[in-house]
Amino acid sequence: MSSQETPEENLPSEQESAHGAVAVAKTGEHADPFADPGLPPHEHRVQDIDEKAARRSERTVALLFTVSMLSTIGFIASFVAFPVDKSVYLWPIGHISALNFALGMTLGLALFCIGAGAVHWARTLMSDVEVADERHPIEAEPEVKAKVLADFAQGAKESQLGRRKLIRNTMFGALSLVPLSGVVLLRDLGPLPEDKLRHTLWAKGKLLVNMNTNEPLRPSDVAVGSLTFAKPEGLEEHDHDFQTQIAKAALMIVRLQPDDIKDKRELAWSHEGIVAYSKICTHVGCPISLYEQQTHHVLCPCHQSTFDLSDGARVIFGPAGHALPQLRIGVNDEGYLEALGDFEEPVGPAFWERG
Ligand code: FES
Repeated sequence: MSSQETPEENLPSEQESAHGAVAVAKTGEHADPFADPGLPPHEHRVQDIDEKAARRSERTVALLFTVSMLSTIGFIASFVAFPVDKSVYLWPIGHISALNFALGMTLGLALFCIGAGAVHWARTLMSDVEVADERHPIEAEPEVKAKVLADFAQGAKESQLGRRKLIRNTMFGALSLVPLSGVVLLRDLGPLPEDKLRHTLWAKGKLLVNMNTNEPLRPSDVAVGSLTFAKPEGLEEHDHDFQTQIAKAALMIVRLQPDDIKDKRELAWSHEGIVAYSKICTHVGCPISLYEQQTHHVLCPCHQSTFDLSDGARVIFGPAGHALPQLRIGVNDEGYLEALGDFEEPVGPAFWERG
């Protein structure tokens, strides 16, 4: 219920409004100590009666929204311009990241100016007439809904959004630029992998080194029925990118009877029945570690994908999408097993290949 709808006997006189309960106590005329004191009379702000002051407020709000826009642009520029490792000295904190400092300051200022602009707009230009509204049943009557819509329309009108085009335009500009700050942060997801996932350390002439003994392998080191794990020559465990490289280059080597090899290409890429396959499962990349000598099957322990090493390592069971990549191998002049090139397809889960 608005002040206009308050019962007349409950409306305060001007004196009551001005002095409140003190005046009531002095007169001692009212028996009801809980009478509704009503709302104090509305006092016009300077902006309500002076169009020049209103214009000044409008310009202030527009200035705040404009500063917000510039700060957002500054945020994006800082993100691009400042190197990640540059630091600045800031008393009394000490040395801090220049990038983080610039991002924090510009984004903070952009958000602050939007908030300050909105508050200043509401306090100086939007209608400040107080209205009282009584509680009503939770389920609104159709008339109430109509009133809400009417109030909303009235509020929109009183906010002067349509009339104060300068505020409206700068506000929309500030609000639409701020989300861009989030877009540029996507850069922190890191550089694109480009074709790094398509290549491994294997190359023509790289020796196959036993993962356990760290010694180059000769054909005689690979016994029938055994499963040997190998890495490329030159890759050491203390290398900073060891895990990254071995996750792509890990190899398993098995010796089969050449007559048991059904796939012609597999036979051509092997040496005296020794075949080398990627150890990384093509399902979701677990290292394969179980070999069944009788059937020549290898099994991934994660989801039981099973590959037939005597038939091009094709999938015979489980969720893996395609065969394990084979590495073409041979023997160098000194009798060591060597790679004859890199894998001809990406290793690991199928999405690399499809991507
Ligand atoms: S990762 Fe090998 S079966 Fe799932």
